[in-house]
Order: sequence, then structure tokens, then C-alpha cells
Amino acid sequence: MRFGILCVSDRCSRGECEDRSGPAIAECVAPLSDENAYRLVPDEAQAIQNALIELADGFGADVIFTTGGTGFAPRDVTPEATRAVLDREAPGIAEAIRAQSMTITPRAMLSRAVSGIRGRTLIVNLPGSPKAVRESIAVVLPVLEHAVELLGGDTQSCGGNYGK
Ligand code: MTE
Repeated sequence: MRFGILCVSDRCSRGECEDRSGPAIAECVAPLSDENAYRLVPDEAQAIQNALIELADGFGADVIFTTGGTGFAPRDVTPEATRAVLDREAPGIAEAIRAQSMTITPRAMLSRAVSGIRGRTLIVNLPGSPKAVRESIAVVLPVLEHAVELLGGDTQSCGGNYGK
């Protein structure tokens, strides 16, 4: 699988701090990944949209994980920028991440993260901290291969075994 990793952070993009969440994503997806592409952008809607489009349509990512910019701060615009490039939303993924995360911290309800599909690419917003990234990715990792099969047009891949 090809993964796009997009860190959204004003401070990291200015070089004022080091991105630790992007590397955390890379570590989590390593068992499934053939190739990763990494981008780092400030909390600017247009920059986020451009990076998502490039990773999806140019690099051909099967899955893009973004990290950061999902909260309530005035410059948190990752969900809006993501929605602008989606063809279809996949709310179940964001719901599952929030539900599981709520068992860890009530602050999970402060993430406005969205998930959805652009062409054959699944895009999933994650919160900004490396801890939140690890906790959130653990929720979606078990369904990623099947999600990507379905996006590729393999409609038979459930094989009737929905319980598995
Ligand atoms: N989700 C998990 N699993 N673990 C966390 O520690 N932190 C929350 C939330 N989601 C958290 C989490 C906090 S404190 C915030 S403010 C929101 O994500 C938004 O984070 P962001 O603005 O960095 O995207």
C-alpha cells in the first residue's frame, strides 16, 4: 500500500519545532506500507487542499493520514480543507476513532476530524499529538486493507463473511 502522510502545523512548518506525529504515523503503517510520501504544511486551507490533491492524484496514495489542525483553535482548518477535496465522506471511520478515543480521554470530543474518499484514496484526519496519532491509527489499521480493496473495485472481497 502507498501512504500519504500530511503534517499540518504552523510551528513545524516555520521550523520552530520538530514534527513527531508524522514519524509516528510512518511507524504505525510500516507493516502495511510499500511506500510513503510525506508533506508538511502550515494551517492554511489552500496549502492543505493542494497537498491532499497532490498526494491523492499525483503520488497515488491508497490512504492519506493527516495530523493536526482538527481542534477548536481559530487556525484549525484541517477538517474544512479535507472536506473540500472529498468526493464522498466516510463518517464511520471518524466516528470509530472518536468513540474509541473517548474511552481514553474526554478531550477526544474536541477533535472535529473527518474522513472520506477522493477517487481511489481514503483520507483520514488524525489529531496533532503523537499519542493521539498512535491511539487513533490503532482503530483503523485493522480495516485498511479491506477498505483499499473496496476502493479498487473489488466488490466481492467481503465474500459474505461480514462477521470476520
Ligand atoms: N484523541 C486521542 N485518541 N488521544 C488524545 O490524546 N487529544 C484530543 C483530541 N483527540 C486526543 C484525541 C485533544 S486534547 C484535542 S484538542 C483534539 O484531539 C484536537 O487535536 P488537534 O487540534 O491537535 O488536531
